[in-house]
Amino acid sequence: MNEHGGRPGRAPGRALVGAVGRDPSGDPGRPARRGRPGPPVLPGDDPASIAIAADRLRAGGLVVFPTETVYGLGANALDARAVARIFAAKDRPAFDPLIVHLADASAVGTYATEEDAGDPRVARLAARFWPGPLTLVLRKRAIIPGIVTAGLGTVGLRVPDHPVARALIRAAGVPLAAPSANRFGHLSPTRAAHVVAGLGARVDLVLDGGPCSVGVESTVILLAAGRAALLRPGGLALEAIEAEIGPLEILDDGAPGTAELAPGRTGAHYAPRVPLRIADPRDPGAAPVFVVAPGERVGLLAASQAGRELAEAAGGPFMATEVLDGDGDLVGAAARLFDALHALQEAGVARIIAEPVPEVGLGRAVMDRLRRAARDVPAGQ
Ligand code: TXA
Ligand code: MG
Repeated sequence: MNEHGGRPGRAPGRALVGAVGRDPSGDPGRPARRGRPGPPVLPGDDPASIAIAADRLRAGGLVVFPTETVYGLGANALDARAVARIFAAKDRPAFDPLIVHLADASAVGTYATEEDAGDPRVARLAARFWPGPLTLVLRKRAIIPGIVTAGLGTVGLRVPDHPVARALIRAAGVPLAAPSANRFGHLSPTRAAHVVAGLGARVDLVLDGGPCSVGVESTVILLAAGRAALLRPGGLALEAIEAEIGPLEILDDGAPGTAELAPGRTGAHYAPRVPLRIADPRDPGAAPVFVVAPGERVGLLAASQAGRELAEAAGGPFMATEVLDGDGDLVGAAARLFDALHALQEAGVARIIAEPVPEVGLGRAVMDRLRRAARDVPAGQ
């Protein structure tokens, strides 16, 4: 793993598979799902697409764009009406603040207070990890509308590491407020086809940049007013951040003050449409979870090939199986997590059993997303 917690050598397949006005899921003749008209999908590597998308953004429109983590649902962050459309398109509660995406770190001082923008830890992290999967929450300037930050005095800032995202922000000439491009509480999208299936015509345009290389959302840390706290584990390993600026406070869900500092952490998040249960096939006590009744449609999310074999020995047969990374590599597991969950969901399983991964490096983000996905499961299921 490199210091970004990312793959050495960058993205697997940044191949651009966009196609104008059709379902990008593979079959050119296939109509958009369930008869809903889909949004136009343009290839992100074409400068003409960037120009069209930038015009849409300046006119107050919603444009979905690829980042290295997940696809973002973007609007001009300085236009409160455009940002309000993001909340409507996602069915997102207004208490959940949005991340503002910048083309480069030099813009931080325009949107964060002088004191926070001048914090030497910000300069250190920006120099080391931007562009990349790191969001810094700093005290905001008045130019950022309150709707972006859900009324908080802080704003999350990030410089994404994707050529399409950066070209788009530059061409638009404005910072982009962008949550993950999924309906609230659903799985984050790591391919344009996920966006089309989830949001359809609720957005004006989708830029296709191929599959996302990191595959889980950015790591969010609070650096306001001298504090240093992890608000969300993500695509940059905690260890890499701590190596630069020292230990971070780790906030626990439910602890006093956590909801105020990290409002997005309440409730079920990142959830597939079917119940998910975390169970370790190495744990003899968990063996009953792997037992599949005749006719039951169970999906297995194995962390490694070894986990798959153990789960199959403990139970099954599974209707569909996804292995996050053959060797159990945590960077590879993070990169495939949402893709694999989407695939199990599409296979029609009625429940998912997920093998846990060690909570180090990007394993922390994988376990955080799995636990949130598992929250909806009624006791005993
Ligand atoms: O990788 C990512 O971060 C992706 C891509 C599109 O950049 N974006 C993303 O956004 O995951 P979203 O909205 O799905 O999650 C943003 C998280 C939320 O949990 C939100 O609560 C937190 O960041 N956040 C944003 N601004 C914050 C603030 N001012 N204070 C505390 N938390 C904040
Ligand atoms: Mg999200």
